[in-house]
Amino acid sequence: MTGQTEIRVAFLPELAGEVSNAVCIVIDALRATTVIATLFERNCPCVYVAPSHALAESFARANGYALCGETNGVRAEGFDYGNSPTEFSRLDFSGRSVVLSTSNGTKATAAVANAKRVYLGSALNRNAVAQEAWETAKAESADIVIVCSGTNGAFTLEDATVAGLYVEALVALGTTWNMPSLADSAIAARRLWQGEPNLLRGWMEGKHAQHLGHIGFGEDVGFCAAVDNSCTVPTLVSEETKGAVACPVTLVKG
Ligand code: MLT
Repeated sequence: MTGQTEIRVAFLPELAGEVSNAVCIVIDALRATTVIATLFERNCPCVYVAPSHALAESFARANGYALCGETNGVRAEGFDYGNSPTEFSRLDFSGRSVVLSTSNGTKATAAVANAKRVYLGSALNRNAVAQEAWETAKAESADIVIVCSGTNGAFTLEDATVAGLYVEALVALGTTWNMPSLADSAIAARRLWQGEPNLLRGWMEGKHAQHLGHIGFGEDVGFCAAVDNSCTVPTLVSEETKGAVACPVTLVKG
């Protein structure tokens, strides 16, 4: 990098490129990263994100943690809970760590775990995460890559519009002599969000929001579209092993 922080958006995890010198913000607006912010709001001490259900299950059972996650949006077979932020918002996770495995969000997180720093962002904690990412990028002379989780390898409207919301917040953090430079992908995400700044209205046209509505999780879509309701900054911490099963990544409250 040149001294000026560059912001770019990877509309899919596989487009993130080389991130070992970058600060990443992983987004799975519907619903994994919103769920993680919500779990921390509900006093959860630690969320482990796993790249597969099998790994999540053995790790959770070996350590006595709550096992959470979904397949096609519904609670995965044999899991304690699904991936519904409204359900979690009514529970208390004090003293209860969670292992989470989802179709896209936790896999996207694992895919960029080698970045200089990884934050998990949603609309809910937009300002808090953007602020922390900006400060870290400045301190580390790093660029910022906003990584959209997508859905099974396909672009998703909700992740891309929340990426645009983050670009807007990061630009607002810049000062006259310290403005970020925007890659074309960041400009595109910002323009997409500017085209429909009401997240919920925009998302309802998208496939995943409609799918969640059809399977009974319409309330979650509204919950995930609320902006700046949370100050939690979920941050990835690497951990080689935990108990008997290797777990690639750990989240701690920032
Ligand atoms: C995912 O990781 O793909 C999502 O969080 C799916 C969902 O539960 O809506």
